[in-house]
Amino acid sequence: MGIALVYDIARWEERAILEAARKRSISVELLHLETQPLTVNGKPPVEADVYLQRCLSHANALSSTIALESTGLRVVNNSRAIAVAHDKLWTLALLSKAGIPTPRTVIAFSESSAMKAAGTLGYPVVVKPINGSWGRLVSLAEDEETLRVILEHRVYMNNPFLKIHLLQEFVRKPGRDIRVFVVGDEVPVAIYRVSDHWVTNTARGGRAQPAPIDGELRELSLKTAETLGVEIAGLDVFEDPERGYLVNEVNAVPDFRNTVAVTGYDLPGRIVEYLASTTRR
Ligand SMILES: Nc1ncnc2c1ncn2[C@@H]1O[C@H](COP(=O)(O)OP(=O)(O)O)[C@@H](O)[C@H]1O
Ligand SMILES: [Mg+2]
Repeated sequence: MGIALVYDIARWEERAILEAARKRSISVELLHLETQPLTVNGKPPVEADVYLQRCLSHANALSSTIALESTGLRVVNNSRAIAVAHDKLWTLALLSKAGIPTPRTVIAFSESSAMKAAGTLGYPVVVKPINGSWGRLVSLAEDEETLRVILEHRVYMNNPFLKIHLLQEFVRKPGRDIRVFVVGDEVPVAIYRVSDHWVTNTARGGRAQPAPIDGELRELSLKTAETLGVEIAGLDVFEDPERGYLVNEVNAVPDFRNTVAVTGYDLPGRIVEYLASTTRR
């Protein structure tokens, strides 16, 4: 049994996964995209039963997964799951179709139609890119005037996806979000991301604290992962004062350094054990 770790930049997470595998005498091959070209339809670059996708860049993660899968290899997460999770619209669409509660969301293809959508959702309104991460370009418009300025900036950025506006109701969270981890059919650990700011990403100053996982959150998380086809994932979940849990988005290559630091839970160990268990089937 062997794992290959696919990465572009080695962070704490990748080193921890390597260490966890070595501790369990599971062999790990490193596949560093900086030095390793990938043959499409050719021989796999390294020998392994399963490839763990850990690229920091989404473009690298998706393209390398597609190339590896072309040789018949199993990559976790698979390319479709990576593509779906990176796309907030696709994610929300599949989740709502599956009956999973999500924030009320509208997409608009022009400034005027975005203004109209905001009128329906009501202010303050959240505007964010369809594909983004670490809280970048996630904005809150208190009123029409602010929204107009946000949209204007966006339209002048040289990216067609920024010209599609994803608008959401502003969920009145209790000063925190929940980040839940799914590994296979388990929900081993969760944290709160606490912040005075409404954007709670730890990359933006949110503080991590251990969070409990009740039966409802566990079930919701597993159903979300199953719906999107992710095997290893970090879910953003909001607590709405009236509706309860709402799934906001899913990360298919999640950071987890802060989670391990505050909970002491051995997530890298769980990940390698999960990968090992799936190759033994
Ligand atoms: N509709 C919303 N209502 C309240 N807070 C939100 C909403 N959307 C995003 N946020 C806040 O902004 C953060 C970043 O938004 P998110 O959609 O997760 O994008 P990213 O991919 O950049 O993490 C969320 O974790 C949450 O704290
Ligand atoms: Mg997020």
